[in-house]
Amino acid sequence: MSNGTIKKIAGPLVIAKGMRDANMFDVVRVSERRLIGEIIEIHGDEASIQVYEETSGLAPGEPVESTGVPMSVELGPGLITSIYDGIQRPLDDIMKISGNNLQRGVEVPSLKRDLEWDFVPVKQTGDQVVPGDIIGTVQETEVVSHKIMVPMGIEGMITEIKAGKYKVTDMVATVETKSGPKKVGLMQKWPVRQGRPYKQKLSPNMPLVTGQRVVDTMFPIAKGGVAAVPGPFGSGKTVIQHQLAKWAEADIVVYIGCGERGNEMTDVLNEFPELVDPKTGKSLMERTVLIANTSDMPVAAREASVYTGITIAEYFRDMGYSVALMADSTSRWAEALREMSGRLEEMPGEEGYPTYLGSRLAQFYERAGYVKTLGSDDREGSLSVIGAVSPSGGDNSDPVVQATLRIVKVFWGLDSALAQQRHFPAINWLTSYSLYLDNIAEWFNSKVAPDWIDMRTKLMGLLQDESELQEIVQLVGMDALSAPERLKLEAARSIREDFLHQNSFDEVDTYTSLDKQHKMMQLIAAYYDKAQEALSAGADIQKLIDLPVREQIGRYKYTLPENAASVFDQVMAQLDKEVNEAKNAKEDF
Ligand SMILES: Nc1ncnc2c1ncn2[C@@H]1O[C@H](COP(=O)(O)OP(=O)(O)OP(=O)(O)O)[C@@H](O)[C@H]1O
Ligand SMILES: [Mg+2]
Repeated sequence: MSNGTIKKIAGPLVIAKGMRDANMFDVVRVSERRLIGEIIEIHGDEASIQVYEETSGLAPGEPVESTGVPMSVELGPGLITSIYDGIQRPLDDIMKISGNNLQRGVEVPSLKRDLEWDFVPVKQTGDQVVPGDIIGTVQETEVVSHKIMVPMGIEGMITEIKAGKYKVTDMVATVETKSGPKKVGLMQKWPVRQGRPYKQKLSPNMPLVTGQRVVDTMFPIAKGGVAAVPGPFGSGKTVIQHQLAKWAEADIVVYIGCGERGNEMTDVLNEFPELVDPKTGKSLMERTVLIANTSDMPVAAREASVYTGITIAEYFRDMGYSVALMADSTSRWAEALREMSGRLEEMPGEEGYPTYLGSRLAQFYERAGYVKTLGSDDREGSLSVIGAVSPSGGDNSDPVVQATLRIVKVFWGLDSALAQQRHFPAINWLTSYSLYLDNIAEWFNSKVAPDWIDMRTKLMGLLQDESELQEIVQLVGMDALSAPERLKLEAARSIREDFLHQNSFDEVDTYTSLDKQHKMMQLIAAYYDKAQEALSAGADIQKLIDLPVREQIGRYKYTLPENAASVFDQVMAQLDKEVNEAKNAKEDF
């Protein structure tokens, strides 16, 4: 504990003097209003404090009190379905106290203290435990079984373990350690700026299936992988983040709305509870934690919100879950860093961003991964991180985009031209990439279809050929193309319109299973192959382009999952019939 006084106030930055005993990253209470802040720099007895609440009205001489503990989150039952601000204050509870106008200095616990949870032990008296071991579970929501784990630093024999209804502040077990008996409760705390430990990082080897075709088929992200979605204003960053939060095959979703418009967060709050998970039939909110730090909330708390979010995500990873974290937008976080750096009068780097921008981003994304967790049962968990980046003017030479691209392994580049043509998701298939493809190819081939990767390669090749052919067309016109080249353009058009284009707002199209994605690829490839064959046999190119079955191929994405197999067979049969007719028509001449 250390008590000082305010020396100077500059926006979210407060300089306090008399803070000789304070530590870096200690949480402090500033002024009589008890605003929450964090020490981000210490020089002698002066501490620079990043204040997470509006600082207007503060005056030099007011007291500053250090709590002596680093900025931490509470981890335990009650996280799921919660909506927190950047420093893990539950928004519903703050609103109860202060109404819609967030009052400053409100102190509310992150996990509700009055709720009781049914604790079911899986260990018993006499069992030896180490940090990370699961001693019991709490059914937190219908779909999430919350594992109660032995916290760091506790190792020994269980001498007592209870069962029944407990609050997060209650103790449920006692462990006899070398330094005496230690209690284990339903809740633990963890400092947000420090990654939670694990045993070993493993190489990602399976995809995080998202039901989004351009993602899963063309540029997949691995479970435990990192991806960035940069894009200009209105190009679809938020929609794609929402789609992933809704449909990604994750046990737990942590969604951070960081500095974005309030209405985008309202969309999440309204929509998510209504959405039903196609696999469990339960509300998707039952596996989701939301962190809302909208543009109207204090800037500094954006900085904290990404750490709050990722620490909660790591905690669920440690239980052995697949966790997906979305941050929209990391640019707003970087702007908060820039603002603080400016106030601290640090030497600026590119475009005023601090010189440590790249290392901060890297430290954040490095907390993603596919890991062997602590504990003696060899659990594996994954934390996948997807960050939206919103460069000003949509210019990807922006320092935040550039720094992010040096770290992430998947790049979904949103393109304003595609968005203008209403080709959504507006992910540019020529510039985007996934460096996980090689590692997870085997998974697709063995779990979905043996020719998955071949199909993907074939479609991607056609799209690349299309862009070259289009250059020729622009120079010398369509007439310069041969019939096989025109067919190629048609096939590529079908890939774009019938496959890549996916409407997030259509009930069926919003999510496509991998099996259906494969069937869609097969239909388009079959059209191309069969038409090519017919062409060599002398069929007329225009006839092949005009085949009525092409409309059925285009509509196939709207087929209900339960009809996908039978409709696929019908369309294939129809395709065969029409191509044969086109071939025979030529023989009639
Ligand atoms: N997959 C999609 N399907 C249908 N429409 C889409 C899709 N993606 C984006 N859109 C359309 O584009 C609009 C803008 O998307 P979005 O709000 O996600 O952009 P953004 O990049 O987050 O913008 P901002 O920079 O303002 O945050 C949406 O309101 C929607 O109409
Ligand atoms: Mg947005």
